[in-house]
Amino acid sequence: MCGIVGAIADRDVVPVLIEGLKRLEYRGYDSSGIAVLDGSAIRRVRRTGRVAEMESAAAAEGFSAMLGIGHTRWATHGGVTESNAHPHLSHGVALVHNGIIENHEEQRERLRALGYAFESQTDTEVIAHLIHHHLQAGIDLLEALQRAVKELTGAYALAVISQAEPQRMVVARMGCPLLVGLGEGENFVASDVSAIVSATRRVVFLEEGDTAELTRAGVRVFDAGDVPVQREERLSSVSLASLELGPYRHFMQKEIHEQPRALGDTIEAAIDAGGFPAELFGKDAQAVLAGVTGVQILACGTSYYAGLTARYWIEALANLPCSVEIASEYRYRAAYADPKHLIVTISQSGETLDTMEALKYAKSLGHRHTLSICNVPESAIPRASELVCYTRAGAEIGVASTKAFTTQLAALFQLAVVLGKLHGRVDAAQEADYLEQLRHLPGSVQHALNLEPQIVAWAERFAGKANALFLGRGLHYPIALEGALKLKEISYIHAEAYPAGELKHGPLALVDAEMPVVVIAPNDSLLEKVKSNMQEVRARGGELFVFADQDSNFSASEGVHVIRTPRHAGVLSPVVHTIPVQLLAYHTALARGTDVDKPRNLAKSVTVE
Ligand code: G6P
Repeated sequence: MCGIVGAIADRDVVPVLIEGLKRLEYRGYDSSGIAVLDGSAIRRVRRTGRVAEMESAAAAEGFSAMLGIGHTRWATHGGVTESNAHPHLSHGVALVHNGIIENHEEQRERLRALGYAFESQTDTEVIAHLIHHHLQAGIDLLEALQRAVKELTGAYALAVISQAEPQRMVVARMGCPLLVGLGEGENFVASDVSAIVSATRRVVFLEEGDTAELTRAGVRVFDAGDVPVQREERLSSVSLASLELGPYRHFMQKEIHEQPRALGDTIEAAIDAGGFPAELFGKDAQAVLAGVTGVQILACGTSYYAGLTARYWIEALANLPCSVEIASEYRYRAAYADPKHLIVTISQSGETLDTMEALKYAKSLGHRHTLSICNVPESAIPRASELVCYTRAGAEIGVASTKAFTTQLAALFQLAVVLGKLHGRVDAAQEADYLEQLRHLPGSVQHALNLEPQIVAWAERFAGKANALFLGRGLHYPIALEGALKLKEISYIHAEAYPAGELKHGPLALVDAEMPVVVIAPNDSLLEKVKSNMQEVRARGGELFVFADQDSNFSASEGVHVIRTPRHAGVLSPVVHTIPVQLLAYHTALARGTDVDKPRNLAKSVTVE
C-alpha cells in the first residue's frame, strides 16, 4: 500500500526519491508524487498512474534538490486523482502520510473554522494544515509535528519538510512502519527498507509514538513523550539482488522459481539441529508450547490458506484442537477465548492491519501466548508476539504471494511437529521421518517447477475462459483455494475452490463445457473419492485439468488432461502441489497480458482496513 521515502543530503536527492518510489511500487499504489525544497521554495509534482509518469514530469520541470519527500498512494479517503495524491501542502509545509487518521473530520471542521481551505478529499491534508497551524505559535517544525500528532487518532507514518527550515526533515510513526536510514553526511527515511537499500543498509526502526529529526549531520529520535531516546542501529539484510528481476520477466516468476532456495533456507535450522527443537520458535518456546491446549490461527489472504493447511497438520500430528479464522472477522466478534490456547498469526509482511488488530484483540480477550510466522524481521506483528518464527523467503515483490506461502507452510509444519513432540504424539522415529520428508522438500519442489512447459500449454486454454473451478480434498483443499485465489488475483478470471465432496451441493450447477475444473488429486486416502467427484464433472461435459502424482493411477482421456507432479511422500504434499497452481495462474495471466506483478486494485501490504 502507500509508501514513503525521504532524503536529506549534499547531492541531488530527486534520483534517490524516484528510485525509492520505484522500489515501493510492488506494494501496490495508484498515484505518486514528490515534494522537494529547491532553493527556498517547495516544488511538488504528482501524477496518477505509474511512478515513471511522475518521474518524466519531474524531469521535464527540471526538479533538483538536496531535501525531499516522496510517496506512492493507494486510495482510501478520496478517489484516485492528482489532487488527492501526496505530498500535501500547507503554506510552505509539505507532508507525506501512510495510514488513516480517524478523527480527520473533526480536525477538518476545526481547521476550516481557523480559515484553512482544503484542496483534497484526503484525511492527510488535515495533518499538513495542523502542523502549519502549530507553527504559527512560533515553534519549530519538530515541535509543531510533535504537537500535531498528539491531536491525531488513527495510524500514521509521516515525513514533513518546510520551506522555512531547509536544514531538516521531521518524521513520526504510530501504527505504520517507518525507519530511518543512516548515511555519511546524508540521511533517509522510508516506510520499507527496500526504498533506501541502494543508499544505505544502516537502519533504525522507529517505535510506536516516536518522532525524529533528520539533518545532514545526524538523526535525533524522541519517544512518545518527546524525550530524546536512542534506538538501536541495525544492518539490513535485504539484498539488492532480491529487489532486482535478473533474467526473469516478472517478480512473480522469479519468486516461484526461488522456492527451492527459500524452502531450503527456512528449514535449515531444523536440518542443522537434526530434528525439531522447540527453540525453532524462540528461546522460551518449549515451556509455552508444552503448556498450550489448543491453537487459534489468525491471518488474511494467502496466509489464511497457509493456516487452513496447518490445521490439518496440527490436529493430526499434535492432536490439539486448531481453529483458523480470517483476521478481519475474528477482530469484530465475541470470540471464544481460552487463555491456554496459542494464538498464531501468519503474515508475510508482518504489517497487515487486520492481522495486527486481531492479535491485539486476542490479547484483550485474555490470550497470553502468541506466536507469529512472518517473513519480515522487525515488522509490527512479530514485535507484538511472544514467540516468532521467521520464514526466510527473502523479499517478496510480486503482489501475488508465492514463496512466502510455501515457506509459511514449511514453518507451520515444523510447528505441528514441535507441538506433536511436546504433547507426546510424535516419537523419535516419527520425528526422524518428518525431518527426512522436510529434507527432500526443496528437491521435490524443484521437480514440480520442471512441469512448467506442460503448464504453459494448459494456460493457453485457460486464457480464453471466464470462470474456473478448483477442487481438492483434505490437506489439498486449501491448495485448491490458493490456486483459485492466484488465478483470480492476476488473470482476473473468476475462480472458486471447493472441497471436492461439496461439488454436488451447489457448484455442479455451474459445470458445462465452458467451465474448466482443476483438480488436485495426489494419491492419498481420498483419491478414490476425488475420482468419483471427477466423474460427476465429466458427466456434465466439464473439462478436467488434473494434477495427479506419480502414484495416482490416473490417465488422460477425452476431456481429462493430466499433469503428474513428482512423488512426494506424505504430509508435505500440499507444498509440492502449490507449485503447479502458481505456475498455472502465472502463465494464464501472461497469456492474457495482465500486469502480473501489480494486479489492478490490489496491494502487497494491506495496512488499512
Ligand atoms: C494482501 C496481499 C496477499 C497477502 C495478504 C495478507 O492481500 O496481496 O498476497 O496474502 O495481503 O498479507 P500478509 O502480509 O499478512 O501475509
